[in-house]
Amino acid sequence: MTGGLRAWAVSVAATAVSAYALDATATAAGVALVASGLLGGDGNHRWALALLAASYAVWAWGLRANLRANQELLTSTGTSTNVLSKAAHDLTRRHTTSPRAVRLAAAAGYTVTEVAKEVPYYAGAFGAAVLTDSVTATGALVFLAGANLGAAGYEYGLARLTTAFLRRRRYASFDTDWEPAAYLDGYYRTVEPDEVATIAFFVDALRAAERDRPVLFFGVGPTLHHVFAAAEVASEIHLGDYLPANLAEIRRWLDRDPGAHDWRPFVRHTLRCEGVAEPTDEEVAAREDLTRKKVTDLVEVDARHPRPVARSYPTVVSAYCADSATADRATWALFMRHITGLVEPGGLFVTSALRRCRGYTVAGRSFPSAGVDEHDLRAVLRPGFGSPSIEVRQVPQEASHGYGGIVLAAARRTATSHS
Ligand SMILES: C[S@@+](CC[C@H](N)C(=O)[O-])C[C@H]1O[C@@H](n2cnc3c(N)ncnc32)[C@H](O)[C@@H]1O
Repeated sequence: MTGGLRAWAVSVAATAVSAYALDATATAAGVALVASGLLGGDGNHRWALALLAASYAVWAWGLRANLRANQELLTSTGTSTNVLSKAAHDLTRRHTTSPRAVRLAAAAGYTVTEVAKEVPYYAGAFGAAVLTDSVTATGALVFLAGANLGAAGYEYGLARLTTAFLRRRRYASFDTDWEPAAYLDGYYRTVEPDEVATIAFFVDALRAAERDRPVLFFGVGPTLHHVFAAAEVASEIHLGDYLPANLAEIRRWLDRDPGAHDWRPFVRHTLRCEGVAEPTDEEVAAREDLTRKKVTDLVEVDARHPRPVARSYPTVVSAYCADSATADRATWALFMRHITGLVEPGGLFVTSALRRCRGYTVAGRSFPSAGVDEHDLRAVLRPGFGSPSIEVRQVPQEASHGYGGIVLAAARRTATSHS
């Protein structure tokens, strides 16, 4: 089952369980309040009305807590305890990058369902009051107030449960847990199918890069496998990453340290993508030398910063960076705006992301992934970039790493737009 389908299946099941549990809690609380004899007499009608009004305020408070928890659940797992809320969330996300609009849509979907669940209670309580003598109108109001209080308790309890579940799901930290050597060992011993596709796409996309101008690689990690594709077209290459340890690993390769990672299989694949049918060892070494010559700067960058580098570039490449740096879609969109803001008007942006992925493992630790797809990428590139070319590739072999697909994109910033 794909990640998207699994999220729907979990949401449908959670919605059904939640609806029954809410029903049972609210009914039991309503019956208990009536049975307590509180405000039972007919003379208490006004007090019963006041209690009902107050119970709505408490219910709204419980619902508010649950809406917040549901939003967090949707953002970090793509699932919800209310299927209508998930539908509204996913649909709105396809049409806008505004986190506020998406949040409001999810909350509206949830609230509409919870309000609709009130109808049977009203019908039941007042139907019984009209049809039988044993239930008075005051009794019906007390029952409804009790049901509201039960529902409030349920909403609040569900919010606490959801939050506790999310807190258990802790991701590893780049600052303290990232091991460049383990990342290279786990992902870059050989050219895996996702990189066969990514490098081929990048080679093709970079044919449209402006020649003899600088190229920035943003969030390059400890890797060079995408960089070889830019060596011929770039006047110079700047490599940026958040972690000094990653840049140190690259420095080792630039300095020909004997312990540096061996990128030759990736260089060979790059040359094949460029049209060299059987690259010789000399051609591979020549591309490595050219790349070493063209890399003139290693820079620490932080996508959280609105202006992560103090200049702009005619070509920016950012592979598996923003999506692999956060589990939160809204944060991913923000990082993407910061990164794409480095592209000059008329410049080229080339990117890739793990598709609908929730996390990937490095040395047994789980790092976050934003769970984005081609719709998210199109939406985030829409302002400022004219009709991006976006491709999806399935890579089921990578499921053990936490993803089964990738999204590849190339887009040109419109000549008039500024970051
Ligand atoms: C999965 S790695 C991708 C590395 C490389 N581009 C690749 O394709 O293998 C994600 C990278 O994002 C970087 N990163 C994490 N947080 C970041 C931030 N706030 N700003 C910039 N880069 C960040 C990490 O240091 C890491 O190198």
